[in-house]
Amino acid sequence: MTYVIGEPCVDIRDKACVDECPVDCIYEGERMLYIHPDECVDCAACEPVCPVEAIAYVEDAPEDWQPYVAANVDFFADLGSPGGARGLGRQPFDAPFVAAQPRRDTAAG
Ligand code: F3S
Ligand code: F3S
Repeated sequence: MTYVIGEPCVDIRDKACVDECPVDCIYEGERMLYIHPDECVDCAACEPVCPVEAIAYVEDAPEDWQPYVAANVDFFADLGSPGGARGLGRQPFDAPFVAAQPRRDTAAG
């Protein structure tokens, strides 16, 4: 199994989690970040550092996060397993479910 990123990350993208990941498996989409389900080694380092509590172990994720559990898989449909997020950089797309969500009104705009 794996850790997943859920709804609170959308349009927030704090990225504190990225610096904690020992295997560089947290990838950046246009509106949120995604944990690669095959590359994550379940170390749990990312979970406590997210200021908006957007990270959970998949089996502990809230029921209404199920579309986000799927989104953390769907995001990689075309990317496959790149083996490292930093080299890839921010992608100009999101998983379809995430792309369809209304924009969050953030202070930063
Ligand atoms: Fe998102 Fe939280 Fe990481 S807002 S980018 S999951 S630190
Ligand atoms: Fe996975 Fe988070 Fe660790 S994405 S590898 S549990 S830092």
